[in-house]
Amino acid sequence: MAVKLHDIKAPIAAELDIFEEKFRLAMKSRVPMLDRVTHYIVQRKGKQMRPMFVMLCAKLHGEITEKTYNAAALIELLHTATLVHDDVVDDSHKRRGFFSINALWKNKVAVLVGDYLLSKGLLISLDNDHFDLLKIMASSVREMSEGELLQMEKARKLDIKEDVYFEIIRQKTATLIASACACGAASTTDDKVAIDKIRLFGEKVGIAFQIKDDLFDYGSHEIGKPKGIDIKERKMTLPLIYALNQASRSDKRRIINIVKNENHLPRKVDEVIQYVRESGGIEYTEQIMETYKQQALDILLTYPASPVRDSLEEVIRYTTERKI
Ligand code: IPE
Ligand code: IPE
Ligand code: MG
Ligand code: MG
Repeated sequence: MAVKLHDIKAPIAAELDIFEEKFRLAMKSRVPMLDRVTHYIVQRKGKQMRPMFVMLCAKLHGEITEKTYNAAALIELLHTATLVHDDVVDDSHKRRGFFSINALWKNKVAVLVGDYLLSKGLLISLDNDHFDLLKIMASSVREMSEGELLQMEKARKLDIKEDVYFEIIRQKTATLIASACACGAASTTDDKVAIDKIRLFGEKVGIAFQIKDDLFDYGSHEIGKPKGIDIKERKMTLPLIYALNQASRSDKRRIINIVKNENHLPRKVDEVIQYVRESGGIEYTEQIMETYKQQALDILLTYPASPVRDSLEEVIRYTTERKI
């Protein structure tokens, strides 16, 4: 049976409520426009997967503390900041089923709001002298920026290979999920080896998570954000990279030409999507996603059986089976 987010959240519902309150308070500002924007953001919450990873990885190593809640708020603030900026970078007007910040308030506001959220996140750990969390998080902010820029460079040249694709998604997405796991653990243990181990687990889940997101672009169901936008933005993700590797020379030239010169035409974007589907790019990508999921599971199963471990197992399943 399909895993439901609501069911996975149930065992940590009380903890997530405390997190949400912290998250909301951290965003508050006396600048009226900023407060309107952050209010809008809080009302349209996402799946909150990263705070879930923080809580569960904390519980895997001890009892949840104030530091755990701070870590969860810090991560979700940073995640939100990157989404606000990402929609500017991707020129995307839809997020979580509603208009994106840049669509409603324009790019200038979105850039500054993103910076505000980023600084508020980092300040939570500074104000509480949680320098270890700050260290984990600052390096993932750097990696996310690098990942997005590497992706941009490849979108310009359209010469991306599989290994670079994996490096991009590791940097832009997996690092933050890895940090969520590491920060969670760091809030309940000082054991560096343990923190590194759960970090690697998060990285594997994170890669599977982004592969799933990239598959959505080739799907047909509603996901609360635009579809086909990766091709429109000249982002070549794994399904397309695979299809091009299988393609004849003339097909390859035709498809790349669409991505390069006709990516603004929905009919042409659909043609690429159709081509990728017919070439087996979707199945191939799903298979790769499964291998990352399995690697995460293998790490998880080295921990003693417990309800927390079961919950994490559910979260991994949800990562690859989710519909949004
Ligand atoms: C979206 O992340 C950005 C990616 C890394 C693909 P989520 O899918 O976790 O976004 P929300 O927070 O649930 O909206
Ligand atoms: C997600 O990039 C990673 C970051 C937000 C840094 P995408 O551009 O693929 O994410 P969506 O699809 O817009 O959520
Ligand atoms: Mg985007
Ligand atoms: Mg995407």
